Amino acid sequence: MRCLLYIGLIIAGCNAQQKQERRFPDDFIFGTATASYQIEGGWNADGKGENIWDHMTHTKPHVIKDSSNGDMAADSYNNYERDVEMMRELGLDAYRFSLSWSRILPNGFSNHVNEAGVTFYDNYINEMIKYNITPMVTLYHWDLPQKLQDLGGFLNPLFPEWFEDYARVVFEKFGDRVKHWITFNEPREICYEGYGWSTKAPIVNATDIGTYYCAKYLVLAHANAYKAYVNDFKATQNGECGITISVNWFGPLTDSADDEYAAELKRQAEWEIYANPIFSEEGGFPKELSEIVAKKSLEQGYKKSRLPEFTDEEKKYIQGTSDFFGVNHYTGVYVSAEEYKSNHITPSLLSDIDVGTYTPPDWLASASSWLKLSPNSIYNSLTHLHNKYKNTKFYITENGWSSPPDSELVDDDRILYYRTALNSLLDAIEAGVDVKGYMAWSLMDNFEWMEGYTERFGLYHVNFDHPDRTRTPRKSAFVYKEILKTRVIDP
Ligand code: NOJ
Repeated sequence: MRCLLYIGLIIAGCNAQQKQERRFPDDFIFGTATASYQIEGGWNADGKGENIWDHMTHTKPHVIKDSSNGDMAADSYNNYERDVEMMRELGLDAYRFSLSWSRILPNGFSNHVNEAGVTFYDNYINEMIKYNITPMVTLYHWDLPQKLQDLGGFLNPLFPEWFEDYARVVFEKFGDRVKHWITFNEPREICYEGYGWSTKAPIVNATDIGTYYCAKYLVLAHANAYKAYVNDFKATQNGECGITISVNWFGPLTDSADDEYAAELKRQAEWEIYANPIFSEEGGFPKELSEIVAKKSLEQGYKKSRLPEFTDEEKKYIQGTSDFFGVNHYTGVYVSAEEYKSNHITPSLLSDIDVGTYTPPDWLASASSWLKLSPNSIYNSLTHLHNKYKNTKFYITENGWSSPPDSELVDDDRILYYRTALNSLLDAIEAGVDVKGYMAWSLMDNFEWMEGYTERFGLYHVNFDHPDRTRTPRKSAFVYKEILKTRVIDP
């Protein structure tokens, strides 16, 4: 008996020690992420065509908080060697960045390739490979060629073909060295914010309908690019291709059935609308959301649902077209069935879903209004996705924290955020979720879309007043470097 007790104590001791150690698997990939328009600059350099962010910031500068733009941004177009040097300083395994479609195909169409643009990315990729840093490449991070937007952009039924043509060009040019492809970054932000509303270029504001048609053509475009890769490149290039979706956590405010249902609807409207067609067993758009939109559309006088359907053939074509699920995760909120329950509950901006959201007022706040430090939200998101979309492999393709522009190099809030997030991620891995890697957003400060340069997400500070765009590591960069070296975090 006593012997058993000792064995029990030893095992308990070992567990406690393991718990304390919090170690990432040896083959876990750590990296950082950026996006072309946010860092590159060189907006019209060497034959690059205009994109929707160039166009919007030049024609309507007031829509950006500080009336700035990405004309020069962090000038990575001229600083790529320094960028790779920073990756080496941090000891990154991988670097996620995006290609500017209009730098490669100035008009969006594949009949005119801008060789200078291709050379820029060749140099960037070769520099990474030289130092053993694995490139993870996003094909589309929001900077659509303006010419294609003039033709309707994502709302044009031909969009899936245009995207496939572009994807084929980049697989062909870079696929000998790039083995991890992401078709789209954050469909929700592209469709809902850019087409359904007006908080991202091209600010179409086709309320209630733009989001849904964009969703359909985006998902078809993704499937086209994936099939092109699998059918014509994978055998020789031997890489993987997936999609990145923004997955912030939406949990019920109380355990009432109404709040549970409200949270489910919110998840369907925010991310499952993009994930279900690709990852679910049944395919197509989520059921409850489809029913609600159909009902509301008829009541509003439409002849059919504003949410377009996929044909059975399309459903089959799209299902399973992703080798992994890229998760951009930043925060979480609680969801309530009551829209205006108290001062703290704000109505959802998705007009088809009548729910409210609640953020505890004591959660640590970043410089971004929407970003608070929410405990366990990575764990909740990943375990939910894992249970819903069985056998899926995940990467965290973005996760990060913003500080104000005048913030110092000592960024303890960011460090606390990263430690909390990585602990929550380890909880998910220990619960059986297959997560292969983690990309911190961001390697350096950059152009934060509608917020311009007023919010800073960088492990490296960038001096936007200096013509060289000098980069200086923050305290968080040193902490991240240590975590990458040891693969261990404090509990
Ligand atoms: C996600 C987007 O992909 C990225 O471009 C943006 O800067 C971060 N969120 C922070 O808002």
